[in-house]
Amino acid sequence: MENFTANERHPSRRGCLISLEGGEGSGKSTLLPCLADQLRAHGYSVIETREPGGTPPGLQIRTILLDRERHLPPVAELFLLEAARAIHVDHVIRPALDRGAVVLTDRYTDSTLVYQGSVRRLDPILLNRLNQVATDGLIPDLTLYLDLPPETGLARRRQTNDLNHFDRLSLEKHQTIRSAYRALAAQYPARIRTIDATVPPALVLQAAWRTVQEYLAQHPYPLCIHPLS
Ligand code: TYD
Repeated sequence: MENFTANERHPSRRGCLISLEGGEGSGKSTLLPCLADQLRAHGYSVIETREPGGTPPGLQIRTILLDRERHLPPVAELFLLEAARAIHVDHVIRPALDRGAVVLTDRYTDSTLVYQGSVRRLDPILLNRLNQVATDGLIPDLTLYLDLPPETGLARRRQTNDLNHFDRLSLEKHQTIRSAYRALAAQYPARIRTIDATVPPALVLQAAWRTVQEYLAQHPYPLCIHPLS
């Protein structure tokens, strides 16, 4: 079930919502600021944000969710994620879209479909419904899915970070996460574009930037001071 992109819902609105998705260690957090810099260099006003988080209450919820020692029933995890998302959309994403900005978010509703759907085994109808309620039906205009084998992602993650609650899921679960993302990308090919994340960061950026440029060239509504070259 798809809802409405920022543009479809409010045709007068000039902003654009782009989400980055992927498994652990797929390089979203490295890519996002580089993509933001490219967009700014081309005259776009850009907001960088992430889920769970993006607002002060969202960060508090993030601390609970990522705590390694926590034990939450899956549905409590879901409600916390959706509460953080509702605040994020209301306080950050919508106001930025209303100003005509490009909003780049590290994870959004697809993460819930994938993690809470395939790992926690929650009903996809419930997940879609709660995503819709939390976002008031706002789906991304474009989603970049960074695809790589979980073994590679987890090895990268172990080098740089303490492993959080989700990183510590079994390899089998991480493989399920990858399959779920691939299935979602196949279901919504117009919105979700798959980027090969096994290559060096500069090449990931090149592929992501090409995809964003193509999208913006076809949908020239966001605030653009200098047209794309
Ligand atoms: P984070 O450290 O930000 O991981 P990553 O860099 O891989 O994004 O942790 C966020 C974790 O939250 C991530 O493992 C996936 C999980 N998550 C969900 O399970 N459902 C969701 O809806 C969202 C937004 C995140």
